[in-house]
Amino acid sequence: MNPTIELLKSHRSIRQFKDRPIAPDLLTEIILAGQAAASSNFFQAATIIRVTDQVKRVRLAELAGNQAYVESAAEFLVFCADMNRASRCCDWHGVEANTGFTEQFIIATVDVALVAQNIVVAAESAGLGICYIGALRNDPAAVSAVLDLPHDSYAVFGLCLGWPDQNPEVKPRLPLDIVFRENSYGTASDLGQLADYDDAIRHYYQTRTDNKKSQSWSEQMSAMLSKESRPHMLAFLRRSGFLEK
Ligand SMILES: Cc1cc2nc3c(=O)[nH]c(=O)nc-3n(C[C@H](O)[C@H](O)[C@H](O)COP(=O)(O)O)c2cc1C
Repeated sequence: MNPTIELLKSHRSIRQFKDRPIAPDLLTEIILAGQAAASSNFFQAATIIRVTDQVKRVRLAELAGNQAYVESAAEFLVFCADMNRASRCCDWHGVEANTGFTEQFIIATVDVALVAQNIVVAAESAGLGICYIGALRNDPAAVSAVLDLPHDSYAVFGLCLGWPDQNPEVKPRLPLDIVFRENSYGTASDLGQLADYDDAIRHYYQTRTDNKKSQSWSEQMSAMLSKESRPHMLAFLRRSGFLEK
């Protein structure tokens, strides 16, 4: 296999970082690699905020449920879905911006994810470790206030970046046959294959170095999907200018 594919398949989130900075040139190269991602309608609807202010870092770590690595990683980036810039282009050209479409929300959120994942791959190719921080959406309004986010933008997630100070195991993914189908969705064979995968994940959780537990993947998903999932998001996104129509 080629080294890029090997790199992608060796990904694991890193949650413990060395007290070592990332050289500015490397950081710039990584961000430029992120920007090179494809962009729907060329909106380039991602704005990345590098948080260097320690007071803001501490506050964001707290908002993300006290995840210590938000504070301890060499860098913490916040990825914002941003239709505000395009909206200001409309003002500039004397055109009324027709914002608030769910489609624009999808476009901006997907753009952000593509930029972020490019950044992740570029960072990992340089030996850095990463951890996405979706928990910023625990209190999205407070995050917007910390970062002075304008209307028509929101923080989709954060990203910790730094030199790894741990070497966790790669987490097994679902069997290929389950996620890669031909011509139609089809569910008939799912459950049998899931049973084997459940065993693999339970074994992974029981034997991994840190944070051992005994849970299968289907148990984990059942527990997750039977709970409410950040129910404040709809009202927040409406207030932010997304999801109006
Ligand atoms: C958008 C997104 C948000 C995430 N948020 C968090 C988070 O807040 N805290 C955390 O420790 N891990 C977070 N993760 C990491 C996932 O838990 C992790 O990717 C998943 O369990 C698979 O493990 P792996 O990345 O080691 O392969 C997030 C991942 C993604 C893609």
